[in-house]
Amino acid sequence: MAKMQLKLGNLTAVLGTQWGDEGKGKLIDILSEEFELVVRAAGGANAGHTIYLRDPSNPTTSKKFVFHLVPSGMLHPTCTCLIGNGVVLHLPTLFEEIELLEKNNISTNGRILIADRTHLLFHYHKLIDGLQEERKGDKKVGTTGRGIGPCYADKTSRMGIRIHELLDFEKFETKFRQNFETLKKLYKPLELYSPEEELSYLKKLAAKIKPMLVDGAHYLHEAYKNGRKILVEGANGSMLDVDHGTYPFVTSSNPTIGGISTGTGLPGRAFTSLVGIMKAYVTRVGSGPFPTELKDQLGEDIRQKGGEFGATTGRPRRCGWYDSVIGKYAVMLNGLTDINLTKLDVLTGLETLKIATAYKYNGQVLPSVPADLDIMENMEIEYLEMPGWTENIGDIRSFEDLPQNAKNYVLKIEELIGCKISSIGVGLERDAMIFR
Ligand code: GDP
Ligand code: IMO
Ligand code: MG
Repeated sequence: MAKMQLKLGNLTAVLGTQWGDEGKGKLIDILSEEFELVVRAAGGANAGHTIYLRDPSNPTTSKKFVFHLVPSGMLHPTCTCLIGNGVVLHLPTLFEEIELLEKNNISTNGRILIADRTHLLFHYHKLIDGLQEERKGDKKVGTTGRGIGPCYADKTSRMGIRIHELLDFEKFETKFRQNFETLKKLYKPLELYSPEEELSYLKKLAAKIKPMLVDGAHYLHEAYKNGRKILVEGANGSMLDVDHGTYPFVTSSNPTIGGISTGTGLPGRAFTSLVGIMKAYVTRVGSGPFPTELKDQLGEDIRQKGGEFGATTGRPRRCGWYDSVIGKYAVMLNGLTDINLTKLDVLTGLETLKIATAYKYNGQVLPSVPADLDIMENMEIEYLEMPGWTENIGDIRSFEDLPQNAKNYVLKIEELIGCKISSIGVGLERDAMIFR
């Protein structure tokens, strides 16, 4: 289905372009029918990538899968999945997901590989995440509580532990205990946690992990040279990028193109396509500025209709109008070649749609997304208005068949952000996608 319609080449990355949850999982699942390798590059179990799989024996029902660490290519038996070195990996979560797949008769045997340089995330990272949020009080980030920030902090402060170290368990255990002691001095409540159970779990796991480890970058380069098609799965979104997002209300990695490259070892110039996923409106979970947020009944209506509740934490997602300033910013930062506009069906029935076209501060139009969050919270937003449509678009599979006002809406976004919208999501299921 996807193969004839999107010409993406042998090395493609799929990236979130807003504040996450744009619908990356669904496109990755569709594309992995033709990609032999799917690689997660960054983030950790903060990600929640949803895929609906129709039951072959009863096509009116579907099974919902939400992947936090397992790459979203797992539902295609021909696909091998690699957890890239840029990921922070909580092994119990990974093995829960593997167990769930096996329970659903999806074989994972030999299909999940892990780059040996991948940093491990432990329970104490999650505890520290919670303690840091508590200390921040009303300035809290609203993290997913998955320990992401503390684990990346250990990585960059050069005290992190990488998965290959598990193979020499004695050495691993010594380092683990040293780290835990160091962190206990900084976070007193850690004294209440005993890591013995976790250590014994990890010790048992080491033998199981060994055959899954590969030298990630070398493996990927060999695969690439041998003509295997590789799809890199981004997590989170550009506006959550620790460098380019709404800092400090961001995650602790680079969901943008830089993180795709460092998180896999695949050089930027080798990519044949970079597909940005954009919701036809905008959502955000957690705190931080959100210029086009709808705090009224309309925002609530979109949340209900779009099922906008976090795939990882179940928190209600904040909803707002499509914002072409951040759309254009993501196209620029990532050098996107294609856009997948998702959830267009959710906007059906709205009489008027608004699109943010510019940010204005002190009477001046800002050139891009400002760094200063005080400006971001207080700037004016310029909107254009477009008429909506009422027809159900869920069964439409060709752009030409969309209602004229829906086509106009898509074409206007394309014009404003300067990147081709080559696919449009019109529903939850694998086949609910229009390819242009
Ligand atoms: P991800 O983190 O980017 O993979 O996105 P999530 O899975 O967190 O959230 C996206 C949600 O939107 C999921 O529940 C998807 O099933 C759903 N979704 C994706 N594309 C579409 C679409 O085109 N239409 C509708 N109605 N839902 C969609
Ligand atoms: P996917 O891949 C939506 C947000 C959190 C919080 C901030 C920091 O499903 O799109 P963290 O736990 O990373 O320290 O939290 O980043 N966040 C996400 N929001 N989707 C995600 O991933 C996210 N990953 C992190 O809500 O605001
Ligand atoms: Mg998600």
